[in-house]
Amino acid sequence: MMAQTEKTEEESTLINLLEIDGVMLPVISKEIWARVCNFQARPDDLILATYPKSGTTWTQEILDMIHNDGDVAKCQRATSTERHPFIELTFTHKEKLDLDWANEMPSPRMLKTHLPSHLMPPNIWKQNCKVIYVARNPKDCMVSSYYFHKMTSMLPDPKSWEDFFEKFMAGKVVCGSWYDHVKGWWAAKDKYQILYLFYEDMKRNPKREIHKMLEFLGKTLSEDVIDKIIYHTSFDVMKENPMANQTGVPTHIFDHSISHFMRKGMPGDWKNHFTVAMNETFDKHYKKKMEGTTLTFCTEI
Ligand code: A3P
Repeated sequence: MMAQTEKTEEESTLINLLEIDGVMLPVISKEIWARVCNFQARPDDLILATYPKSGTTWTQEILDMIHNDGDVAKCQRATSTERHPFIELTFTHKEKLDLDWANEMPSPRMLKTHLPSHLMPPNIWKQNCKVIYVARNPKDCMVSSYYFHKMTSMLPDPKSWEDFFEKFMAGKVVCGSWYDHVKGWWAAKDKYQILYLFYEDMKRNPKREIHKMLEFLGKTLSEDVIDKIIYHTSFDVMKENPMANQTGVPTHIFDHSISHFMRKGMPGDWKNHFTVAMNETFDKHYKKKMEGTTLTFCTEI
C-alpha cells in the first residue's frame, strides 16, 4: 500500500540498540549505559521526556523559546541536536557523546530523553528535577515512526508497513512498548515533579499548553511573547527553520528525500495508513493493553 525504500544491510543501523530490561534502547554500549545510570543530575535541570515521534523537537523548540523569553535569534544559535543533549543517545555524526556535553554544560540545563520512566537515571529523581513528558496517540506515533525508520540510518529498516505495525504493537521497537512508556510515565507523575502533556492538546490549543508549561516552570511571559512563541513553533514555520527542521543532520543519517523529519505534523494521518482490518486489530489490542488506566488519548482533532 506504500512505496518501499529498502535500506541495504550496511546502512540499516548506525547505532547499536542495547536491550535493557527487555527494552531496546539507542545506547551504544553497556559502558555507556552504566554511565547513563550514574548520570549526575542538578536540581535545576529540566528534562523533556517522550516516546520517540511524539513531538520532542516541537516541545524542545517551545521550551527553548520560553527559556529565551521568545528571542528567536537566541533559539537559532544552533540546530536542535546541538542545543540540548540527549541523556542516553548521541547522533552518530557527533564527535562527543551527548552525555559528556551534558556534564560540561553550565546550568540551567535542558536535557532530552526517550527513556521509559523506570529506566531513568535515579539521580534525576533524587534531585527532584522537573520533567515535561509529552505523549502522542499511538496510531500517529506508529505512522510517524515508520517513516522515521525509513529516512534514518540510525534505526533498522522497518521492512513493510504491515511488518512495522506488528512490531510496534508488540513493543519490539526502539524504546520498547509505547503502552509501557506512556503508562509508566503516567504513574510516575504522581510521585515526581512531572508535567504530562499531549501532542494533540498542543496542536488543538497551543496557548493553553504553553500556559501549563509556564506555570510548571514558575515563569511568566506576556501574551505578546506567548503569541510569538506559538507562531515560531508552528509546524509551517518550524518546517522552514533550518535550526529546527533537522536538515542540519547529515543526509547519510537523515535522508529527507525519503521522508521529511517535519512530515505532516497533524493528528489523524494514521487514517491514511491503517486499513479497516488493521484498525480493528489495533483497537482491540489497545483496549486490552490500556485496561485499568485513567490515561486516555484522542486520535484526531
Ligand atoms: P509526523 O511524522 O506525524 O509529521 P519527534 O520530534 O519526537 O521525533 O516527533 C516528530 C513528529 O513531530 C513528526 O510527526 C513531526 O512532523 C512532528 N512535529 C515537529 N514539529 C512540529 C510542530 N511544530 N507542530 C506539530 N508537529 C510537529
